[in-house]
Amino acid sequence: MKNRNLGKFTVSSVGMGCMGFSHGYGALPPEEESIRLMRKAFDMGCTLFDTAEAYGPFVNETLVGKAVKPFRDKVILTTKFTPCKVGDQAITNEEKLTAKGIRKALEDSLRRLGTDYVDCYYEHRVPLSSRPEEIAEVMGDLIKEGKIRGWGQSQSTPEQIRRAHAVTPLSMIQSEYSMMERMFEAEVIPLCKELGIGFVAFSPMASGFLSGKYNASMTYVDDDVRRAITRFAKENVIANQPLLDALERLSVAKGCTKAQLALAWMLAKWPHVVPIPGMRSDARIEENLGAADVQLSTEELAAIETELAKITIHGNRTDEDIQRMGYVKAQ
Ligand SMILES: NC(=O)c1ccc[n+]([C@@H]2O[C@H](COP(=O)([O-])OP(=O)(O)OC[C@H]3O[C@@H](n4cnc5c(N)ncnc54)[C@H](OP(=O)(O)O)[C@@H]3O)[C@@H](O)[C@H]2O)c1
Repeated sequence: MKNRNLGKFTVSSVGMGCMGFSHGYGALPPEEESIRLMRKAFDMGCTLFDTAEAYGPFVNETLVGKAVKPFRDKVILTTKFTPCKVGDQAITNEEKLTAKGIRKALEDSLRRLGTDYVDCYYEHRVPLSSRPEEIAEVMGDLIKEGKIRGWGQSQSTPEQIRRAHAVTPLSMIQSEYSMMERMFEAEVIPLCKELGIGFVAFSPMASGFLSGKYNASMTYVDDDVRRAITRFAKENVIANQPLLDALERLSVAKGCTKAQLALAWMLAKWPHVVPIPGMRSDARIEENLGAADVQLSTEELAAIETELAKITIHGNRTDEDIQRMGYVKAQ
């Protein structure tokens, strides 16, 4: 497995998003199977594991903590606090974004994870009404105390990144990025490069769509976000077929799968981007981690960009759509 740098951290070029083992994608594997799959990813060289207090809520951190326990010191473990009350937390929304609230959330996460430090602690959303500098100061104190090694923000704006980074340097920004969601390409990803911050791409497979294994006749159940996000509305799945057709041509020419091409594209484009696909089977882990070995030349990357530029994307994934399913409102 190849490695790359995310801020001051060195991680595998493809990490593992662990949310789906407890949350967000419908039927769950049994606990032992989830642990086996996370350990398989580690055995294959994956060293970045991502969770959050909101996943489950809370139970995903316990699960991930159990899975990585035998090799805790060999992986970069990232978790997140939500900037408002989650589940039955005995705190108000306002208190959550204070030093007291963040410290309490971190102590609870450390207990659930069964570890005494988090490598990168993210602010899961950065409310526009908040002052990024205040959170950065708290994070700086937590770094000095050794409770976290670095910190990050998720879905933040260039201004929020600059203001926070000036107080306590950020290690990672984690935001949505894939061939179907490129809103952070214009400013945030180049800004992270300029400031030496790693960019972690969540939903890099566009919730599986880019693998080409999902079609308009499929239905989704329970807490599966694909019931709510418009990217998976039947008419949009049909309208987005040209993207899958292009991926088919390009991946056949490259001798890899569509999923691998979707990940290899962002790896080739940016030296400081690491995707964290969700994957809950041996085959998907092997396929997605295998993308790290798909090396695209400058010409191949240019050919992909030319194809993508011709395609209009229909539908997206928004917090508002997901909140309609009853998930915690992040800001
Ligand atoms: N910061 C944030 O606000 C935020 C938001 C969302 C997610 N995240 C993090 O980012 C991680 C990844 O997000 P995501 O789960 O939405 O990523 P994703 O990889 O785009 O989507 C995961 C879905 O795609 C499927 N999939 C992945 N690779 C596949 C392949 N090769 N072939 C077929 N299907 C494939 C998965 O299937 P199976 O799981 O069924 O195998 C799952 O249903 C999460 O686990 C979480 O840690 C962060």
